[in-house]
Amino acid sequence: MQILNSPVTIGKITVKNRLVMPPMANEKARDGMVNQQHIDFYTEKCKGGHIGLVITEHSYVNIQGKAGKGQLSVASDDCLPGMKKLADSIHQCSCAAFAQISHAGGAALTAVTGMVPVSASRVMMPRRQKEYDMPLRLDKEGIKQIVRDFADAARRVKEAGFDGVEIHSAHGYLLNQFYSPLTNKREDEYGAGCMENRLRFLLETVSAVREAVGPDFPIAVRLGGCDYAEDGSSIRDAVQAAVMLEKAGVDLLDISGGFCSYRKPDDETPGYFSDMTQPIKQRVKIPVILTGGVHSGRQCEKLLEESKADLIGVGRAILTDSAWPQKNMAGRL
Ligand SMILES: Cc1cc2nc3c(=O)[nH]c(=O)nc-3n(C[C@H](O)[C@H](O)[C@H](O)COP(=O)(O)O)c2cc1C
Repeated sequence: MQILNSPVTIGKITVKNRLVMPPMANEKARDGMVNQQHIDFYTEKCKGGHIGLVITEHSYVNIQGKAGKGQLSVASDDCLPGMKKLADSIHQCSCAAFAQISHAGGAALTAVTGMVPVSASRVMMPRRQKEYDMPLRLDKEGIKQIVRDFADAARRVKEAGFDGVEIHSAHGYLLNQFYSPLTNKREDEYGAGCMENRLRFLLETVSAVREAVGPDFPIAVRLGGCDYAEDGSSIRDAVQAAVMLEKAGVDLLDISGGFCSYRKPDDETPGYFSDMTQPIKQRVKIPVILTGGVHSGRQCEKLLEESKADLIGVGRAILTDSAWPQKNMAGRL
């Protein structure tokens, strides 16, 4: 596990190895606040310090963008004491910690938020998991407010002591809804006409977040690069977007895809999004995370050897076996 165990630089920080625990929502919060169950969950996964980087679960930047009843909040300063405890618990295990910040857009439910959801256009979410409400089309003032909410949330993540922040623009949530032609039917400068327009909201968010956290704090973007669906975004789009995000000052690209979830239809091969990460890695200098379908340390090492990515995310395998990092980083499996 030579490459997997080698350090990697993300912006101004160095992470000790290339194993990432990707964000995995566990729906344990009450009113958005961190509780002992969160601390126990992350401590159990990080015990032994075998994971290089932990990205904590998606946390909502405002109530209208809340995706689920038990989701964590970064929407107000009330969350700071809990977020501090969470960052501390991961650091105590000697792992680096980023926090993912998110707005669910049209994938938020009125039953959870008490509000009508918003999105790029008045289009029902092409996701099957839940009974979605028809979203309202965001106007420019609404977009600007959410950009500010992301920036405030990122400031809190830094204040809580995390090592970096990840902006969620995947899995059919709001920023992904603007990027994807499946849900963006607008004709203005945020519209589906060209990549500059589809990415404008995300780029404005990156810029506001940078302003809020300063030049040295790492910013990651989880990009749902390709929808793998008819008339959806393509691998070419993903490469173009990655280049633009690097230019905008993003320090780390966390690649995912599949508008309706984090899966690629009919493909569970280890590193199933490498058809995106490999061409992206050839075009950008910032590190790229590949997540999806990886079950062993050997698979991680092979994907790194083949230059498919710079870091490997392992989600469900760690979720079901907390000893996975210890077993696999030692090279036993
Ligand atoms: C229970 C669960 C919750 C998840 N929650 C999030 C999340 O909050 N944010 C996110 O970007 N991805 C989320 N994901 C997707 C994972 O980060 C990861 O991309 C996915 O599980 C595929 O990787 P794997 O095959 O190693 O599990 C979640 C996945 C699972 C299984």
